[in-house]
Amino acid sequence: MSSPIARQNRTRSQALQQRAERFFPGGVNSPVRAFKAVGGAPPFVESAQGAWLTDADGNRSIDYFGSWGPMILGHAFPPVVEAIERAARASASFGASTAAEADLAELVTQCFPAIEKLRFVSSGTEATMSAIRLARAATGRKIVVKFEGCYHGHSDGLLVKAGSGVATFGIPGSAGVPEEIAGLTLALPYNDLDAVEAAFAAHPGAIAAVILEPIVGNAGCIAPAPATAGRPGYLAGLRAITTREGALLIADEVMSGFRVALGGALELYGIDADLVTLGKIVGGGLPVGVFGGKLRFMDMLAPLGPVYQAGTLSGNPLAMAAGIATVGYLQEHRAEVYPKLEATAKAVAEGVAAEAARAGVPLTLNRVGSMWTWFFTRGPVTDYGQAALSDTAAFGRFHRAMLDQGVWLPPSQFEAAFLGTAHGEEEVAATIAAAQTAFQAVVAG
Ligand SMILES: Cc1ncc(COP(=O)(O)O)c(C=O)c1O
Repeated sequence: MSSPIARQNRTRSQALQQRAERFFPGGVNSPVRAFKAVGGAPPFVESAQGAWLTDADGNRSIDYFGSWGPMILGHAFPPVVEAIERAARASASFGASTAAEADLAELVTQCFPAIEKLRFVSSGTEATMSAIRLARAATGRKIVVKFEGCYHGHSDGLLVKAGSGVATFGIPGSAGVPEEIAGLTLALPYNDLDAVEAAFAAHPGAIAAVILEPIVGNAGCIAPAPATAGRPGYLAGLRAITTREGALLIADEVMSGFRVALGGALELYGIDADLVTLGKIVGGGLPVGVFGGKLRFMDMLAPLGPVYQAGTLSGNPLAMAAGIATVGYLQEHRAEVYPKLEATAKAVAEGVAAEAARAGVPLTLNRVGSMWTWFFTRGPVTDYGQAALSDTAAFGRFHRAMLDQGVWLPPSQFEAAFLGTAHGEEEVAATIAAAQTAFQAVVAG
């Protein structure tokens, strides 16, 4: 039976992929771009405008990954483009301080009251790696608690996955990570405060920090559990335990920062953290990360204190310009931006879920503002173990069928989808119509 879906022609993209494979492992400079999890050939992007990507064969697709988060104002947003152009004319880099760094820092600290002082770095990986170093120095302790399914960049100690069980010492999640390093990371199930209590009881006075995605994006989208009768919400519970135990709470808001609210998950759920990491949106599409937090910790950094951390391109003028234009716009227009993101994301996420129900495809929708995941499982999905029950083959069929109709979703069941202010009714309607056809492909197998 021939597919009802009009296929995109990707001849040029396929040729470009073959060429790229000569130079880069898997043809890519970051693994998930290779589409291994969903099958099919990844389109090569030539340009993008607003909510739409144009590939090397001239196909146009609605973008639901937004450069993995940063493009909340849409592609080639004029104020961001102009800011980068202006900065470039004054030279791309000096390796000396500029006023723009404090300008962006001022915006960041206004949005995140938990951040009293900060450092700019060039990626989320650097931000979390540096925050962990600082936490270890501040506490004189070695063990770090993270949660299964949370991704905090690719530094050795954070690449750890736990096996099942409550408080398992980590095993290396990647070849090349020594067991001695992995052994300093405890990976626990998300949304399980008892597991955290058990870990602190098992390692008294040894846990330096608890790091988490306060809204998980990297196992697909999973929200923190709300308070129930007699029990605090998950985030409030973690705050109380870490404070009681003298460990730092590190909120990794690289994905959720500026997305779910201007002040990220910390604002949305009214939680404080000792250290916060940011990335993605804060650079407006250019490489920027942030780690920041309480003065007493941040002032331990060189040149004031004994914790070393540095970067040739940290605070790069082009990146600062893009960040100022993006965060400045979000701050100035927050009253319109966040309700619009909520309404558009609700319409598309729930509209597609309704098509799944109509087609008889089991689906669980998890959504917080403009980040969400359609898990191909009956659910609920409140931790990585439940996310892992998803039918990834069915997700792959859905992904390919959507892309063939010009809807480009993140190419993994375990990645959150995003949209931005450039997405509107036209994109929502086209996406729901495409989903109707795509679920037929899912059911056909
Ligand atoms: C929550 C979180 N932390 C850290 C990182 C690492 O950021 P980067 O890819 O900029 O190194 C990511 C990347 O997706 C992330 O989602």
